Amino acid sequence: MQGLESLHIEGRRALVRVDFNVPLHDDGTIRDDTRIRAALPTLEYLLQRDCACVVATHLGRPGGQRIEDLRIDPIASRLADLLPDRAVQHCDDITGETAQSMAYALRPGTLGLLQNLRFHPGEEADDPDLAAGLAQLGDVYVNDAFAVCHRRHASVYSVARHFPAADRAAGLLVRRETQAIDGAMDQPARPFVAVIGGAKVSDKIAAMRALLDRVDHVLVGGVPAFTLLKARGDDVGGAPVEEDQLDAARQLLDKAGDRLLLPVDHAVPAPRDDVLTVDMLPAGVAALDIGAETSTRYRQILEQAGTVIWNGPMGYVEDPRFFAGSRTVARAIARSGANAIVGGGDTTGIPQRLGLLDAMTHVSTGGGAFLSYVAHRTLPALQALGDE
Ligand code: 3PG
Repeated sequence: MQGLESLHIEGRRALVRVDFNVPLHDDGTIRDDTRIRAALPTLEYLLQRDCACVVATHLGRPGGQRIEDLRIDPIASRLADLLPDRAVQHCDDITGETAQSMAYALRPGTLGLLQNLRFHPGEEADDPDLAAGLAQLGDVYVNDAFAVCHRRHASVYSVARHFPAADRAAGLLVRRETQAIDGAMDQPARPFVAVIGGAKVSDKIAAMRALLDRVDHVLVGGVPAFTLLKARGDDVGGAPVEEDQLDAARQLLDKAGDRLLLPVDHAVPAPRDDVLTVDMLPAGVAALDIGAETSTRYRQILEQAGTVIWNGPMGYVEDPRFFAGSRTVARAIARSGANAIVGGGDTTGIPQRLGLLDAMTHVSTGGGAFLSYVAHRTLPALQALGDE
């Protein structure tokens, strides 16, 4: 997989796939433009070298339909604000005449944004015709859409093979993301600690398996903890368990030995908006955070860490009563001074809320892509980019 520096771009036109899948307010305005800012170095690199950029992104999950609220317009205007010295235009299609006339008329050093890729049913289906149509819009192809590189979608997967190997490259964000994870996994300062929480255990198991080959401790919270607790033989009351993951969870526990830590207590809702810490989970009661004793244990380990990889909140952080476990984790990581790599939208929101983003070494723009890269150390779209 080559980088931008190997591309011959001066005076040429680049098809640049970015992930501007940003959260929106109800009124359609952008709630957080981190992902747009994260791709600016690549766009600036190309524009400064007199490359014309045809920029493509998806937004939300319109499922192949044109959904008014998911049009690209707010992104185009934010991009224009962020690149005040550049002409930024956008068009209402993805391929075909409208897209081609915008792309072919772009002057060197200017940028044109295509309509939401997922308005086209062929994007998620990796339709070869769509891939071919997109490829006609650029002389070179740049993929800087790390957060969607775990998908085999037309604009990140099949499109790549339409360009000779010399004319396709990973953007600077993709480089930064993969180097941050590779560095932590391959040359960790010790102790190396992984923190895994969030919602679905099935999404986390492959990552935990890969991490166990390298880390000194895995600290588990959130919903995945319950499946692991049940696999160990604990009574988890009414907590959500992914029954079809119990075998995988048992294998993980066998492999991990005492390197994998599970919660020893839990925070549950109590009357009058209060919170109660319990050791056992009663039937019908939802545990919504790790308990105080678990937080203390996790904090002590994290404060000593040399490297941390963190994906998934410890509790239901949307409710301030159940933010405590995740706050403890974020503060302990910040205090440790560790090489801290944090990924996943809900996870990165935690140091953000606490003003601790600067204490994290790398904050990934990826959610599913981050976890998948940790597990497999490559992603389908990155492989497509590097294929001969
Ligand atoms: C993300 O938000 O994680 C990426 O943009 C991928 O989006 P998706 O999960 O809808 O494929």
